[in-house]
Amino acid sequence: MQRLSEHIRENAAEDVGRGSSEYVAERAAGGVVHRSPECARERAPGVSSEYASGHAPVRAAEGAAQCPAECGPVYGSEHASAQVAEGAVEHPAEYAMEQAADGVGLSSPECAPEYAPEQAAGGAAEYPAGCGSGCDSEDLGELGELYRGFAEELLVPLWGEIGELMPLVPQSKAVAHLWRWDRVLPMVERAGELVPVGRGGERRAIALANPGLGGRPFAAPMLWAAIQYLNPGEDAPVHRHTQNAFRFVIEGEGVWTVVNGDPVAMRRGDFLPQPGWNWHGHHNSSDRPMAWLDGLDIPFQYFTDTTFFEFGPDEVETREAPQLSRSERLWSHPGLRPLSRLRPTPATPMLAYRWEHTDRALSEQLALEAEGYDVTLEPGHAAVRFTNPTTGGDVMPTLRAEFHRLAPDTATAAVREVGASVYQIFEGAGEITVAGKKWYASRGDLFVVPSWQPLAIETSSGLDLFRFSDTPIIERLELHRGRVEEVNR
Ligand SMILES: [Fe+2]
Repeated sequence: MQRLSEHIRENAAEDVGRGSSEYVAERAAGGVVHRSPECARERAPGVSSEYASGHAPVRAAEGAAQCPAECGPVYGSEHASAQVAEGAVEHPAEYAMEQAADGVGLSSPECAPEYAPEQAAGGAAEYPAGCGSGCDSEDLGELGELYRGFAEELLVPLWGEIGELMPLVPQSKAVAHLWRWDRVLPMVERAGELVPVGRGGERRAIALANPGLGGRPFAAPMLWAAIQYLNPGEDAPVHRHTQNAFRFVIEGEGVWTVVNGDPVAMRRGDFLPQPGWNWHGHHNSSDRPMAWLDGLDIPFQYFTDTTFFEFGPDEVETREAPQLSRSERLWSHPGLRPLSRLRPTPATPMLAYRWEHTDRALSEQLALEAEGYDVTLEPGHAAVRFTNPTTGGDVMPTLRAEFHRLAPDTATAAVREVGASVYQIFEGAGEITVAGKKWYASRGDLFVVPSWQPLAIETSSGLDLFRFSDTPIIERLELHRGRVEEVNR
């Protein structure tokens, strides 16, 4: 099985030096811009061709039948079928029991395990005739005929699906998972040696693919998380898209992201929001490479068909490298707002939230707690949220970002919340427990907490964590719930 990194490497040589005009022309003509010509030929017509190489894994999952093996078998049919089989055998029995207890739909718990394989294979026509309205039906033949009719007309009766479609509590397909920084970073660095950054692929960004989501490059159903890497002297070309994005810097400095012509320095610990539809590119003006975490709402916009994308120049419009962006000079003064900007905006106008401010806010929370004031989230747990200074709300309409600091010898309560989160450990180490999985994690490690799965963290040495989540979407739809499972004090 060929790895994605190998596939990119093979095809990278063909794309070196391709100018943006070729890609733009191809896109304008509806042409295929996947890096591999073989894939492109095979993908038509069933697979959309609007996306560049960064979208290849998603396309591979969709277009497994049309795409040759070398075009991403990791994301292809084997993986998809495995997921279907897993999903099918994992839930029906327990759902059936739950639903049966409630007297809902699926009348017989023992039917459920039999249904699973046929359902997974899409074989509704072979669905046992007696199940669905009762295994004691005396007229299985007619019922069987009805189910075959449903299948032929692409109709699905709710009573066979209600367990999955309407579970009693959220049952995320995403699973809790941890990515080790000491395994991720060397591969990102290797990509820096082998894969050029430029028009078409747009960014040298390697995404976290949640093992429960069919190999798609999605950390969670609505969240994208990737490590981006830029070599000394490199430019990441200018573009804009409707996806909201941010950068969080775990290591290094020397890259400036240029947003609508405003150069914003990136340094360790900084949080740099990038609201949708703003032009942006990056340049590395230092003599060292730099890696950082990118977070976006790509999956949300992918599934809701809301994406637009436009190319800008191949190079950023300025190579200025000021310590403070114009955005910060206007907005980064605590409690002060320019009278020329009194109208609320849906996303933050501040393009950088500097580590020195975040660090001080967290330190002062813990110091005040030590002085006897009730200011922390729970004992030993300081936390801040990055906010839009024009509203006091989240920095972007679809993404929430926070920073958490646990004092030494702190254990958090186990908490469930609707919506998914991705965490990166900025400093320190501790034991992370998500839905019964435990990891001892340290600097740089990333983990995902799927919706409604309990998270608890314990540390003896202290821990700094960056967190982002899809909570603004959940809250805006009035779907948010949270629950403290147990308090560790
Ligand atoms: Fe971008």
